[in-house]
Amino acid sequence: MKRIAILTSGGDAPGMNAAIRAVTRKAIFEGMEVYGINYGYAGLVAGDIKKLDVPDVGDIIQKGGTCLYSARYPEFASEEGQLKGIEQLKKFGIEGLVVIGGDGSYHGALALTRRGFPAVGIPGTIDNDIPGTDFTIGFDTAINTVLDAIDRIRDTATSHVRTFIIEVMGRDAGDIALWAGVAGGADDIIIPEHDFDMESVAKKVRIGRDRGKKHCLIILAEGVMPGHEFAEKLSEYGDFHSRVSVLGHIVRGGSPTARDRVLASKFGAYAVDLLKAGRGGLCVGMFDNQVVATDIVETLESRKHQPDLSLYELNHQISF
Ligand code: ADP
Ligand code: F6P
Repeated sequence: MKRIAILTSGGDAPGMNAAIRAVTRKAIFEGMEVYGINYGYAGLVAGDIKKLDVPDVGDIIQKGGTCLYSARYPEFASEEGQLKGIEQLKKFGIEGLVVIGGDGSYHGALALTRRGFPAVGIPGTIDNDIPGTDFTIGFDTAINTVLDAIDRIRDTATSHVRTFIIEVMGRDAGDIALWAGVAGGADDIIIPEHDFDMESVAKKVRIGRDRGKKHCLIILAEGVMPGHEFAEKLSEYGDFHSRVSVLGHIVRGGSPTARDRVLASKFGAYAVDLLKAGRGGLCVGMFDNQVVATDIVETLESRKHQPDLSLYELNHQISF
């Protein structure tokens, strides 16, 4: 392949810029041309496409968000949207596409591949919920942002002897809550992938109180229920001086960590290697610290992301 394009789609994630930089620079290094597509699949269909050169991706490795912008564009699930997208790609002489995004964006890449246009997916989402990789770009930054918030909330929780329910993003996945919860010494972590019993949560809070513990921190994944609903249900078992903190989109912004930048750089360069070799229909991932490519159809259809539930068990054993 001589000319490829790149887009970012779905929820933005810190490190997407580092991936855009890596794809662009590696492709140019390999003697290829690169086009950037603005606003994900919406921009693809609209033909919002421009050539990227070396300076276009300078000074972005340290920035959160995505310099190609992103969009949610449900119309791309339709045949009409996909055919229009392919028409635009052909108009610009583009032979392969790199899609950086989450699960939904991968489905767009899969649709293009099925229609005969080679697309390679790079996992970029704070949720860490994509099959085909141990870690996604943005996850490490997100959990460190949550961790910073937990540490701060712990200060005020201790001062006032309060229980905090800290609601974190993650869509249907509990990875952010799980990792940040263990790192932040959470008293309890509530995730969609594991049952919980409110009475036991309340008991845990009470035992902590009884032995003089000043703070109680419960990290709640948004996929379980909203923080305020959780606090209300908890209050049926006693008054724990609860407060709710919803971290929301704060967790999606900010400068990417070194780990996310390196991951993004590795994924970006590898995606170019694949397209250069004429290989599409793949998604890039990291398993046991090795960058690998898996078939996008097989990955989306027969694999399911599972968080590391040993962390849940670990927290149970060390957080009483
Ligand atoms: P994420 O990629 O972060 O999971 P979304 O689920 O919003 O975010 O998906 C991003 C975009 O991917 C959607 O707005 C749409 O343009 C495209 N997309 C999602 N699902 C499909 C699908 N089944 N077929 C084609 N495109 C899709
Ligand atoms: O997929 C990333 C994510 O931030 C999820 O954690 C969250 O549920 C969702 O996107 C929020 O979407 P929006 O930015 O459209 O409100």
